[in-house]
Amino acid sequence: MCGIIGYSGPKNPLPILINGLSRLEYRGYDSSGIAILDGANLIVEKKEGKLQVLKDHLEGKHFNGNIGVGHTRWATHGVPSDLNAHPHTDNKKEFAIIHNGIIENYSELKDELVNKGFNFTSETDTEVVAVELSSKWTGNLLQTVTNVAKNLKGTFALVVTTTKEPNKIVAGRMMSPLVLGVGDEEVFLASDSAAILEHTNKMVFLENGDFVEIIDGTYKIFDINLNEIKREVQDIDWEISEAEKSGYEHFMYKEIIEQPEMIEKTLSGRLVENSIGIPIQLNEVRNFEKIWIVACGTAYHAGLFGKDLFEKVLGVPVSVELASEFRYREPIVGNKDLGIVISQSGETMDTIAATELLKENGAHVLALVNVVGSSLARMSDSVMYLHVGPEIGVASTKAYLGMLVAQLVLAKHWDIENKLNITFEEIKNIPKLVKESLECETEIINIAKGISKKNDIYFIGRGLDYALAAEGALKLKEISYLHAEALAAGELKHGTLALIEEGTPVIVTASQSHLLDKTTSNVQEVKARGAFVIAVGDDNSKKMEKISDQFISLPNAHSLLSTIISIIPLQLIAYHVAKLNGESIDQPRNLAKSVTVE
Ligand code: AGP
Ligand code: GLU
Repeated sequence: MCGIIGYSGPKNPLPILINGLSRLEYRGYDSSGIAILDGANLIVEKKEGKLQVLKDHLEGKHFNGNIGVGHTRWATHGVPSDLNAHPHTDNKKEFAIIHNGIIENYSELKDELVNKGFNFTSETDTEVVAVELSSKWTGNLLQTVTNVAKNLKGTFALVVTTTKEPNKIVAGRMMSPLVLGVGDEEVFLASDSAAILEHTNKMVFLENGDFVEIIDGTYKIFDINLNEIKREVQDIDWEISEAEKSGYEHFMYKEIIEQPEMIEKTLSGRLVENSIGIPIQLNEVRNFEKIWIVACGTAYHAGLFGKDLFEKVLGVPVSVELASEFRYREPIVGNKDLGIVISQSGETMDTIAATELLKENGAHVLALVNVVGSSLARMSDSVMYLHVGPEIGVASTKAYLGMLVAQLVLAKHWDIENKLNITFEEIKNIPKLVKESLECETEIINIAKGISKKNDIYFIGRGLDYALAAEGALKLKEISYLHAEALAAGELKHGTLALIEEGTPVIVTASQSHLLDKTTSNVQEVKARGAFVIAVGDDNSKKMEKISDQFISLPNAHSLLSTIISIIPLQLIAYHVAKLNGESIDQPRNLAKSVTVE
């Protein structure tokens, strides 16, 4: 789930590892550690808590050696503690291993090893692999790792070093992501390309089942049966500055503020008829009889927006599915279906499994992803990148906006009868509209002061506004820890209205002019029960302005664009409430950026 960094080359590994771990901090973790190999001397240092604890512990220490590995752990097996932190070693301290993911059969393997007399010092599944390596040593690290891997069930990215072959690192992946960074006589390893971008733009994205042997800054890739494989070296066009805070207090804030420029990139080259930036053209999309949009969390909310658009322009049923549910039921998917999988990271385990299901049943899969070269991008039949740059804040903002915009662009290209009644010129205006929407921030800070101590906050909307409400509530929950709930406005009276009392904040977006009267009535219903209503709208929603306690005014635009820009105040509300309450905005408790476990 969490962070991996590795280095082999002429430089001192320690600063490279620590820098890399800092860049991985955003993914959410509970402990960190490093191992450096200096001939027969294996140094392992690890600490529970923030990376700073490890840094303080290492202060003033110097280690020789040209091989190092580092890890940030997000505990799955065993509490966060110094002992459970990675790297883990075998009983003789000859092997050091870091691991992301879960070894599902660790308990059977552990029982066998205990019976053979091996000891264990941690509660982790990972330590079992370290001990297995020493018990199955063949004299060659790559051979031993692949032999051991054949008996592992579950998901993993593993990186191993040993004093027995002190010039080597061997790493392998099964589901959990792993990237090689190729430098000048040096090789980097990372769970996420952003961690090594400062050293190189040349990346090799390892595929499932790939194992890499790194010797003195050079590498070779093999399958589990030791057949050598060639993988393409890709140039990543992300700038390192995009993965840095650049003076902002939080990544999330920076990512909200930079949305106009990022969306410019999402749109770039895609606003002309038959543009090559559109992976599936109208003549092909017409062959599909059903569309499945599958995603998790924020990406799922983005899919709710796409559903209405695609149904309208293509006239086929569109089902939006939570990937974690979809993968465990028996959806009736066939070879005339199009699957649209949406993901920022492209590494979300549930979405990957759902994609496999779609493919096995013959569907064509189009991935809307942000991370270039990610697993979903590689396994899908067609890809449309969001191009919003690296997203570091755990709470997704610019990627969500990118997902909305990418779907609108797709729908526009497929809209032969102009059912959306929108032009490319209007879509081109989105960055400007987003920029103008950001001007509501001062007002939002005031609103945030009024709601930051409330226990329950409701987000309501109808139609596409409901999709936004769902995202607004999730944003607030994940970083402010306040209870927030999204409701289709018309659904309130069927139960949740019972919870509205004097002063309960209700946030309403009203971008859909054809639904304005209906939403206004629902707002009257909550007001009648004492709710404090905060409405988001423009000149078309004057009615709403009259009855709300606070009104956030956005620029006037086509109603689809109004929906898209209405997320800006909701992102800012979440950010400022969390900031006022002093929460850890970029790394909210219990959450990780890339959810590579079930
Ligand atoms: C977003 O704020 C969340 N942290 C989370 O819901 C996220 O959207 C979800 O885990 C899916 O991630 P993905 O887009 O990388 O697949
Ligand atoms: N399952 C391992 C553990 O609990 C690895 C967790 C991770 O991916 O960080 O230690």
